[in-house]
Amino acid sequence: FIYCPLRSFTDLKRDHCLFSKSTPSFPNEFLVFYDYTNKEVEIHLKEQKAEYRFLDYKPNQWHSLCTTWDMGSGLVQVWFNGMPLARKFVKQANMTGEPIIILGQEQDSHGGGFDINQSFVGMMTDVHMWDYVLSSCEIQKYMAELSFTPGNVLNWAALDFQINGRVLIENKQMYCQ
Ligand SMILES: *[C@@H]1O[C@H](CO)[C@@H](O)[C@H](O)[C@H]1NC(C)=O
Ligand SMILES: *[C@@H]1O[C@H](CO)[C@@H](O)[C@H](O)[C@H]1NC(C)=O
Repeated sequence: FIYCPLRSFTDLKRDHCLFSKSTPSFPNEFLVFYDYTNKEVEIHLKEQKAEYRFLDYKPNQWHSLCTTWDMGSGLVQVWFNGMPLARKFVKQANMTGEPIIILGQEQDSHGGGFDINQSFVGMMTDVHMWDYVLSSCEIQKYMAELSFTPGNVLNWAALDFQINGRVLIENKQMYCQ
């Protein structure tokens, strides 16, 4: 089971990639992509994909987008701004092979094959990945931005990363209540 949430903010008027995980065999092993023309969030898993339409993906607002993938049944479910969307069958598979994870740029080959017109420009935070089923309590804590158990595969607070291009890392701005 994979659980992968992130938060993003943009005013782009074109396609953009939020999250891209490739392996040597599958450039799009796990890809979260926004198709601007069709106004849909696409979840790609090893050459298959699910499309989520009719989302209120407004510009200039933070949105949370959490993808869950039950690798045994092949079912994917997206939670958009805390609301669960339809579960869709995409693919039964295991995640194997050396991964390269890139935020904000889509890989057409393992660690490369970038298209500048699919790059993300905006802000992104709280990217995590767990490879086990989270309790609904932990999911709610993530949504409410309370303290939660960080991802065991990806932990935003302890990422080992490289910066490419114009990227600024800063502390999250929290609003006062
Ligand atoms: C994934 O791995 C499990 C355990 O090794 C195996 O039983 C299952 O068949 C694999 N699934 C696929 C789609 O390869
Ligand atoms: C990106 O988009 C611009 C404007 O539409 C276009 O001129 C350019 O050729 C595109 N670049 C690539 C690499 O597709």
